[in-house]
Amino acid sequence: MSIQWFPGHMNAAKKEAAEQMENTDLVIEVLDARLPEASCNPLVDELRKFRQRPSLKILNKIDLADPVATAAWKAYYEAQDGVTAYPMTTKKPADVARIPEICQSLAPHRGVPTKPLRIMIMGIPNVGKSTLMNALLKKRVAKVGDEPAVTKTQQKLYLGKHIVLVDTPGMLWPKIAMASDGLMLAASHAVGSNALIEEEVAEFLGNLLLERYPHLLTARYGFKTEGLDGIAVIENVAARRGFRVRGGDFDYEKAAHVLLHDYRTGALGRISLETPETRAAALAQHAAEMAEKARIAEEKAALKAEEAMRGKRGT
Ligand code: G4P
Repeated sequence: MSIQWFPGHMNAAKKEAAEQMENTDLVIEVLDARLPEASCNPLVDELRKFRQRPSLKILNKIDLADPVATAAWKAYYEAQDGVTAYPMTTKKPADVARIPEICQSLAPHRGVPTKPLRIMIMGIPNVGKSTLMNALLKKRVAKVGDEPAVTKTQQKLYLGKHIVLVDTPGMLWPKIAMASDGLMLAASHAVGSNALIEEEVAEFLGNLLLERYPHLLTARYGFKTEGLDGIAVIENVAARRGFRVRGGDFDYEKAAHVLLHDYRTGALGRISLETPETRAAALAQHAAEMAEKARIAEEKAALKAEEAMRGKRGT
């Protein structure tokens, strides 16, 4: 069965995660509440649906996210089969403390001495898995880091009396389907970026802030936002903060860095990079772009075929 389901090229780590799913009663997927869909890896859902396991989607870092967007995301996920969404922050011990009880309610047939409730925690880098684990287990566990999809350790980790982690957190790389997902992941620091890309990411963030949270830009840096674009936001940050390079030009690199830093630390305010509505619009645009690409490719292929035919006929 699994041989048919997995294409031959699927790598060993993914295969291992799929096998692990068999011995799992509940999957916890840790997402960044500011960009839940961009920070999810569709593989987790694929695997758990295949094994029909319930899912607890933790929308972590709500202290940094827009509460209105977070409420919309909770409703969005809970409309899905077998999914419960739990917005929280690891900064609040009371939020963390509720997790075992929520898990137990999602798998009521497990969690007894003969049948412990087996949980798998998954998520892309930087969503807060290690922090969450440390808080749940009340001890330090190894940083998830760059290990394969599922870290191999044989020790048993108990979240509650009869609630056990089938493995230490599984780390998955994000599947970046759309360019805007890559930019959101970089803005939130889930993926690294060099100085050059940092300016592009800051420009993206600047545009998003102009569209959805212009008042927060004004509150933080004191400039008016009318008529600005993303680059102008960076320029205004540089102007306000006096960031200049030798010769007097604005230091875009430094201003971009500061804007991103202010976003990541929450100094700019509680900002979500996507909502269910913006996600739907981005997906529709992406689908239209893909369809257009396919149409052009088809046209090109038809033209090439026609030329080849003409060549054969000598017309
Ligand atoms: P990971 O295992 O999934 O890779 O994530 P990890 O626990 O290492 O957490 C990544 C960063 O997110 C850490 O900050 C951590 O302190 C922060 N974090 C985790 N949970 C929360 C939360 O609920 N709220 C806030 N505000 N931060 C949280 P860091 O080491 O400073 O990294 P970075 O943010 O500078 O990238």
